[in-house]
Amino acid sequence: MHIRCLLLAGLTSLLFAQDQDRRPTPLPMPTVGKAMDKLEAAKDFHSYANPSAVLTTHIALDLKADFEKRVLMGTATLQLKLVDKSADHVDLDTRNLEIEKAESSRDGKAWRIETHTLAAKEPILGSKLTVSLSRESRFLRVSYRTSPGASGLQWLTPEQTAGKSLPFMFSQSQAIHARSWVPCQDSPRIRITYSAVIHTPNELRAVMSADNNPNAKRTGTYRFTMPNPIPSYLMAIAIGDLDFRSLGKRTGVYAEPSVLPKAAKELEDTEKMVAATEKLYGPYAWGRYDILVLPPSFPYGGMENPRLTFATPTILAGDKSLVSLIAHELAHSWSGNLVTYATWNDVWLNEGVTTYVERRIVEAVYGRHQAEMEAMLGRRTLQHLVDTLPAGDTALWFSMKGRDPDEDTSEIAYEKGALFLRTLEEAYGRKSFDTFLRAYFHRFAFRSITTAEFEVYFHNHLPQEPPERKVPVPVQAWLYSPGVPEGAAVPQSDAFELVESRMKPWLEGKATASLIGVQKWSTQEWQHFLQKLPESLSPIRMNELDAAFHFTDSGNAEIAFLWLQLSIRHGYAPADGRLQAYLTGIGRRRFILPLYSELAKTPAGKRRALEIYKLARPGYHPLAQTSIDQVLGYNE
Ligand code: BES
Ligand code: ZN
Repeated sequence: MHIRCLLLAGLTSLLFAQDQDRRPTPLPMPTVGKAMDKLEAAKDFHSYANPSAVLTTHIALDLKADFEKRVLMGTATLQLKLVDKSADHVDLDTRNLEIEKAESSRDGKAWRIETHTLAAKEPILGSKLTVSLSRESRFLRVSYRTSPGASGLQWLTPEQTAGKSLPFMFSQSQAIHARSWVPCQDSPRIRITYSAVIHTPNELRAVMSADNNPNAKRTGTYRFTMPNPIPSYLMAIAIGDLDFRSLGKRTGVYAEPSVLPKAAKELEDTEKMVAATEKLYGPYAWGRYDILVLPPSFPYGGMENPRLTFATPTILAGDKSLVSLIAHELAHSWSGNLVTYATWNDVWLNEGVTTYVERRIVEAVYGRHQAEMEAMLGRRTLQHLVDTLPAGDTALWFSMKGRDPDEDTSEIAYEKGALFLRTLEEAYGRKSFDTFLRAYFHRFAFRSITTAEFEVYFHNHLPQEPPERKVPVPVQAWLYSPGVPEGAAVPQSDAFELVESRMKPWLEGKATASLIGVQKWSTQEWQHFLQKLPESLSPIRMNELDAAFHFTDSGNAEIAFLWLQLSIRHGYAPADGRLQAYLTGIGRRRFILPLYSELAKTPAGKRRALEIYKLARPGYHPLAQTSIDQVLGYNE
């Protein structure tokens, strides 16, 4: 970090220590990029791979899914490029893999056994696998099996699915869990193409972040190719009782049969979203865009696996009010999957740019009004984080060295990143900024870059001073300083003012809750309403709200989440049963973790949390288990 700061300070003074009236001479990008690389300023501290010696270019998987043992087993054949011709070994990332043997080959036909050593497990990184390489090896074949508790896989019993009759499994490779199901160089700087042969029980279908065939028959064997180079965290697989429904000429949805009709209805605007994004930022580079709706234990809202976004069923609100999540994952097809962060320190390049693009898609498809409400809620989240996190964790670029990216990646990257881009948009004008962003995606397509590279590109492609009468944007402060810099854009929505004016008479005790007079509020208006309630409400007042708006019974996961959080805070007993049902029914970490944390604030609450957790834990994804174990101090 020190080296990087020094270098950037140097770069900045070069860029800015010029006469105010003169445009600084832009630095050619490669100079800085190379200098940074040399100093290893862009080193990925979350991988054992050494890309300056050996690079993987392609991985061919041949894996069988054994649902009884809960393992994937078979081979991963890595195609290698020896950057250092004298390299005599390769270091791979693994976590809890059982390695049977490693073999190398010059031609992919004749194989020889290589020695392999699995180092002791490091808590965050897993185990380094070192394999010797005979001279001129171009292929490395590893025979292995995963462990039943693999951090990047979840195996579900039939009871945990919608259909209740067949099992299910899915992967979640981001942040650093690809290594728990594929021995690989698990670093976003290293891009690979992949192919796979997947063997499943005959009655199940396999899908991957690759060229899925919607018409594939359930034969027990599925073949896939991902022809575009992707980082390892985008390798993904799911196997279950999955059917397909087309949504448009290149879009569709996979889900369990009983979920499919609702999913298809909710997601019917997907094709429009793809078209809207292409209009803004250039052609969609990945062929098909399909969505897989997973069972409720999926630990995230969504995951941008290329060609096949993975999504939580909690977005199926019935009124499309939560489909901005699809806009988000789709946006990653440009920001993230095309242009990828080089290290975890640069995660804002994925999530911040994506959150900005997400709102542009929402605006294009659903209108400015909807996009502004979402931007305002995001702005509030950002303020809350800035007010509560250690200052150092609120810069866009920040050092993740020694930290667990699953636990320490905050919404700062998302919301501060989005606000930064919006501020730039307003300063330079939408037209210029759109042109800039489109060119940026094109320039760095299929590449992984650092914040410093973004910065240099920015300085070379947008003038130093925005158009007249606009205030210059303090780019350095946005990227490297804590908090929200002066002059940040201000999202605005009169919808929320209206909500507040409706709340006022009730808050002042001048009207009953039923008189708040809600006219079909959207989820976002309800979110605003629930977030604006006073710190403390009497049980009678809670009851009154519940009777008027049926929050406890809300089928909308976002609204129920906020209400349950309030209920815990206020000891509102009528919601107790719903809380337990919610926590045992959903595994999305963003919802369940804060509820457990809220419970854990009092001794009685903590006892209750542990009671519920004991029931719910076996159904949670390993990732959610790890986070909640920490919050509750739970040891198995
Ligand atoms: N790529 C992320 C999920 C992720 C981030 C996984 C970091 C592991 C580490 C995905 O695009 C995402 O941001 N999902 C959000 C939804 C979004 C609408 C904010 C989520 O899951 O809540
Ligand atoms: Zn994202």
